[in-house]
Amino acid sequence: MSTTSVLFAPAHFAKVRLPPHEAEPLPHWAYTSPVWFERERERIFARAWNYAGHVSQVANPGDYITLDIAGVPLIVVRGQDLKIRAFFNSCRHRGTKLLRGDGDCKLIRCPYHSWAYDLTGALVATPLVEEDMAGQRDKLSLHPVRLEVLDGFMLVAFDNTLPPVAQAMGSLSREWSGYDTANLVCTRRKSWEVKGNWKLWYENFNDSLHVPFVHPGTLAKQKVTGRQRASNVETDGDYLAHFTMHAGSRGLLEEDQALGFQRLPGLTGRYTQGTYYPCLLPATLFGLTIDCVWVYELYPTAPDRTTVVAASLFTKEQVARSDFAAKAPAYYRRLDTIVPEDNEAVEQQQEGLCLPVGLSGKFTHLETLCHAFDNWVLDRMVTE
Ligand code: FES
Ligand SMILES: [Fe+2]
Repeated sequence: MSTTSVLFAPAHFAKVRLPPHEAEPLPHWAYTSPVWFERERERIFARAWNYAGHVSQVANPGDYITLDIAGVPLIVVRGQDLKIRAFFNSCRHRGTKLLRGDGDCKLIRCPYHSWAYDLTGALVATPLVEEDMAGQRDKLSLHPVRLEVLDGFMLVAFDNTLPPVAQAMGSLSREWSGYDTANLVCTRRKSWEVKGNWKLWYENFNDSLHVPFVHPGTLAKQKVTGRQRASNVETDGDYLAHFTMHAGSRGLLEEDQALGFQRLPGLTGRYTQGTYYPCLLPATLFGLTIDCVWVYELYPTAPDRTTVVAASLFTKEQVARSDFAAKAPAYYRRLDTIVPEDNEAVEQQQEGLCLPVGLSGKFTHLETLCHAFDNWVLDRMVTE
């Protein structure tokens, strides 16, 4: 039997498939193997709607961001026609990455031989070789990538057969409508390079069992009075979600509660009394609390490496306030305190998963969403 067929033999996963209270987590090689990781790129990231940011990150014509989705470099740019487009971040001459970071531009100009593209991706200049290229430019536009906007959030897909994102996300638009996410502004993105597999970070976010032990002096000080969980089967979309009931804002540390904004005006029902955490599949985690929104964007770069970005979002009205600059640091402090605590937990878990033999693990009743996520991964990675 080849190494590949051993790694993916369905028999290994029978106990992951059991009901949550009897099930085991994915085996350790799902977090360490380069072969497994390569298949994730092909079967998960290449065939899903992937998060690409909030529209406020490209607010004006010419604004662009770059990102890397499981090894695929992309540009997202707003055109003069105000339309937002995504392209492979790769020159049609000889493949050079065109842009890095984010910024604004009138043309997308390659740093190597200075070929230039307009904001619709059309090749418009080929200096010194204009005559050679006459009549050929129209075949050398930037390669477009499918991009759709859901409630102010941009998603990209490499698979043109996927249903529209609004359909793929099922009831999510209705669930988070009170936060009016199209009206948000992304005010800060901060990233960390984590020595851990992206799935460990996703699972950690959905594991309430760790909170008193990993966050004893921080998150655990804020008393949670109730929890609700919905798997991706129960949400009817490509996301799973949990909700916690608590007093105050989950976007602030307990000692900073008095520094926060008023509650968002559009919230009703349970959303006035807690925090909603929808987790897009495959790799995006939202926190929507009573006065702000944050997004953890997970970008896998290797089986044991993930770039974690925490994006902070506030309403246009909050950002326009004269006290915004005074209040925002308390929200950033919360992320800058909690994320390293989770990073450390994930990194230590990664180290413990580097084993020469298969050892079974165990899920508990507080980890039902980790179980749902692992099974979603298996549905794509292992076919009977
Ligand atoms: S590779 Fe871009 S202009 Fe040559
Ligand atoms: Fe945590």
